[in-house]
Amino acid sequence: MTGPVTSVVRIDGLSKSFDGRKVLDGVRLEVGRSRIVSVIGQSGGGKTTLLRCVNLLERPDGGTIEIAGDVVHQGGRTVCRDLARLRRTVGMVFQRFHLFPHLTAIENVVLAQRKAGVPEREALERAAGLLRRVGLAHRGLAFPEQMSGGEQQRVAIARALALKPEVLLFDEPTSSLDPESTREVLRVMRELAADGMTMMLVTHELPFAREVSDHVVFVDGGRIVEEGAPDEVLGDPSQARTREFLTSYASQGGGR
Ligand SMILES: Nc1ncnc2c1ncn2[C@@H]1O[C@H](COP(=O)(O)OP(=O)(O)O)[C@@H](O)[C@H]1O
Ligand SMILES: [Mg+2]
Repeated sequence: MTGPVTSVVRIDGLSKSFDGRKVLDGVRLEVGRSRIVSVIGQSGGGKTTLLRCVNLLERPDGGTIEIAGDVVHQGGRTVCRDLARLRRTVGMVFQRFHLFPHLTAIENVVLAQRKAGVPEREALERAAGLLRRVGLAHRGLAFPEQMSGGEQQRVAIARALALKPEVLLFDEPTSSLDPESTREVLRVMRELAADGMTMMLVTHELPFAREVSDHVVFVDGGRIVEEGAPDEVLGDPSQARTREFLTSYASQGGGR
């Protein structure tokens, strides 16, 4: 018998190198159920690699990754026996949507479910319900190129939700969007947060991160430089490196 699982994601001592260069160096991070953890930091700091390691799109060199109580990676060895199941448990939303261009919005949301063995009728109903939930009930038959970036990203969120993940990973979901689309996507994410969705979020929308997060992690050079409550890390950081990052963020007019 095991005890109750309190963490959906548990990362310890995570390391990863590319071409002999350390991109992640001993990262420790935990995301409790219904918690929202935001990862911030400069470009090239290792944020995307960190997210990609969580669902093993990237293979770590060392450390432990535990998802919903199961160790899926340990010491450079993948011990997850069912990668497809892992990717249903850990949903991912990318910066550039990654929708299938030849499929309509609703087909995009149905497809992943079909692959996961959900019966067609149920998959369609679930897809329609999720498109409604992200405010796109009227766009089901549109193709990606006929939609705004914000609409496409909301379809991508619906697609990720369709597999009923236990945690959603967001990799700069609004950084290729205009302000109006950004607002639409942040509204959907805010609702997910209110519904108790567990999320790990890489973002440059610092006011949003401050608003929704339970915990903020500042990553630089593959290491966690500072972490804590949003108001501390973003409002009153203790590390000079964090202050520098926030100052340069402010001088760039807030993330864009
Ligand atoms: N597949 C890869 N092959 C080689 N280098 C990579 C690869 N992916 C990322 N990197 C490098 O790792 C570093 C961290 O990248 P990334 O995780 O994308 O950072 P961030 O998301 O914080 O901008 C960068 O220097 C990047 O060039
Ligand atoms: Mg990135």
